Amino acid sequence: MNPSVYLALDFPTWSEAEEFLKTNELQGVPVKVGMELFYREGPAVVEKLRENNHPVFLDLKLHDIPTTVQRAMQNLAYLDVDLVNIHALGGGEMIEFAKEGLLAGNSSGNTKLIAVTVLTSMDQGILNNQLKLPGDLNENVVHFASLSKKHGADGVVCSVHESQEIKKECGGDFLTVTPGIRLTNTDQNDQKRIATPKVARQQGVDYLVIGRSITKAEKPYEAYQEAIKEWEI
Ligand code: C5P
Repeated sequence: MNPSVYLALDFPTWSEAEEFLKTNELQGVPVKVGMELFYREGPAVVEKLRENNHPVFLDLKLHDIPTTVQRAMQNLAYLDVDLVNIHALGGGEMIEFAKEGLLAGNSSGNTKLIAVTVLTSMDQGILNNQLKLPGDLNENVVHFASLSKKHGADGVVCSVHESQEIKKECGGDFLTVTPGIRLTNTDQNDQKRIATPKVARQQGVDYLVIGRSITKAEKPYEAYQEAIKEWEI
């Protein structure tokens, strides 16, 4: 088990997720619980995973008015997970309120607050033409990262390709968490800004999130081991 690699547990139900973990001998690995599983099973799924010694990244990407986010974060804080997240696009005050809520709900400070910069399923064209956010995608990502840091986030979700620039701007301790990871020869799916675990390591990434490259692999256990091997090189 490597504590920096989170398996995206994107399953519709706990019984399917549990079955997958058991069948593929992945009990105890760090997992990311996202909207799909959480909206079906609620906080109980996180409690079950924690009881089974899985470190948890709770990926709910909160984005609402600051007070709502603060109160929601306070309610999530008792789950005592490793990482929770919000959208940086919610703005500075929302990020600050999220941090306050997190600390009000769990003063241990164990849970890191991570802000999503620009989703790895988006590219330059979507940013400029659909969202009408001008400028270079990388610059936008770095800007969201420094905004997040300024307002109390512990790190950001970004693509591998932006990690170094963010570290330069925000400091080496500011965490980078990267989805959009693909093993060699696996499908890109809907992700646009992708990279391998090895390149992620070289770019100074702190935490990897890997989903379909493992969950949809013919041999998920082997794919997981392969990811860890590449990451640890
Ligand atoms: O299957 P795949 O490896 O593409 O999984 C990516 C996971 O990371 C999904 O659970 C998705 O919600 C999440 N994610 C992402 N992009 C972000 C933040 C999270 O793809 N910026």
